[in-house]
Amino acid sequence: MSEAESTPLEEKLTAPVRAAIDESAYGSWRSIATEDAVSLSFGFPDPDLFPQSGLAESVDAVLAEEGDEALQYGAGEYREELRSYLVEQERERGIDFDTHDLLVTNGATHAIDTVCRAFLDPGDTIIVEAPTFMGILGVFRNFGVDIVSVPVDEDGMIVEQLAAKLRHRRERGAEPPTFAYTIPDFHNPTGTTLSRERRERLLELAEEYDFGVLEDGAYSDLWLDAEAPPPLATMTDSERVIRVGSFAKTLAPGVRMGWLTAPKRIQEATETVAAGGTNTFTESFVGHYCESGQLDDNLPAIREAYRAKRDHMLDELEENMPAEVEWTEPAGGFFVWVTLPESVDAEAMLESAAEAGVTYLPGPMFYPGDGGENALRLSFTYVKKDEITAGIEALAASIAQAR
Ligand SMILES: Cc1ncc(COP(=O)(O)O)c(C=O)c1O
Repeated sequence: MSEAESTPLEEKLTAPVRAAIDESAYGSWRSIATEDAVSLSFGFPDPDLFPQSGLAESVDAVLAEEGDEALQYGAGEYREELRSYLVEQERERGIDFDTHDLLVTNGATHAIDTVCRAFLDPGDTIIVEAPTFMGILGVFRNFGVDIVSVPVDEDGMIVEQLAAKLRHRRERGAEPPTFAYTIPDFHNPTGTTLSRERRERLLELAEEYDFGVLEDGAYSDLWLDAEAPPPLATMTDSERVIRVGSFAKTLAPGVRMGWLTAPKRIQEATETVAAGGTNTFTESFVGHYCESGQLDDNLPAIREAYRAKRDHMLDELEENMPAEVEWTEPAGGFFVWVTLPESVDAEAMLESAAEAGVTYLPGPMFYPGDGGENALRLSFTYVKKDEITAGIEALAASIAQAR
């Protein structure tokens, strides 16, 4: 519940926004972080991996070489270099730029918001995984859409359950969903990866039932064991897939940069609605940084650092967790999803866990409706190894007590 007093203009807000400000918002979870507890809550990158000196050199170089132009509307050549870099990256993934185009955005969330603006009318239906990235549920809710969820198992979205829902909807005469939002690679929050067979089946269903696929590849480059199967956007020529990417996890969230690739006409539509433009100066120096090859050069070390932390968290879970607790073993990304005995409520346990020395995000945050009461998300990337040890020990003690 928002603390602020009500104010006259409030009544003029859209109905979905009015409802949203009364719900606990994204930022309010920060209050869960208590000073003495290890935070396994947030999906933050390891700040030791931020390339501060490389970025500083790129800022200097752009200002020295482009001067005012870099700071003017539109910016200069280095901004174009960012675009070329991203097009090349996406082409290497298999995106066909004869039929598709790229839009640079202020992050993946902005890219998805832009897609929503272009496509969603109140009352439309979208499909999400359950659980799914909590930050995006708020974005979808702003548009007053119906959110239909499909459960996830160790191979990602259980696509046959989506097929059953689509069948029932058609029998009822319901309109097709506008799109299915999926995080196929190293999913937030479960860490699972959508299998190749399920990718194929999802694309078949999109064709059969006439909907789009919004593919969020925020973690695609952060594979730790092996690359994920190919992006959905490259597995079909049906022009039904919009793919979104982000620099938040591989470079730094603070640059607020992401992108989307979409069929050309759809990219044009998103460009039309992405009002206000993007931060062209940041694009210029990130363009300089990426073109110099430093991001690509750093990725192996980033993977190595996260692999070590992931392995350490899994070892600590194995060693400490009481019986009846289960967890995922992610092949990439930032997260481990823990399922507690049915009798343990993760939200109710959070306060005592914080006192014991650990915080996490309770499962229900990741569900559009009910679900996840006995589950929680742990992030292994932001914390140091000894914090992982202390955090998992505190978690194990809290679970044992809650049982
Ligand atoms: C699946 C997913 N998509 C998008 C984002 C956010 O990306 P950005 O910071 O580029 O908006 C996150 C980060 O938490 C995420 O987990």
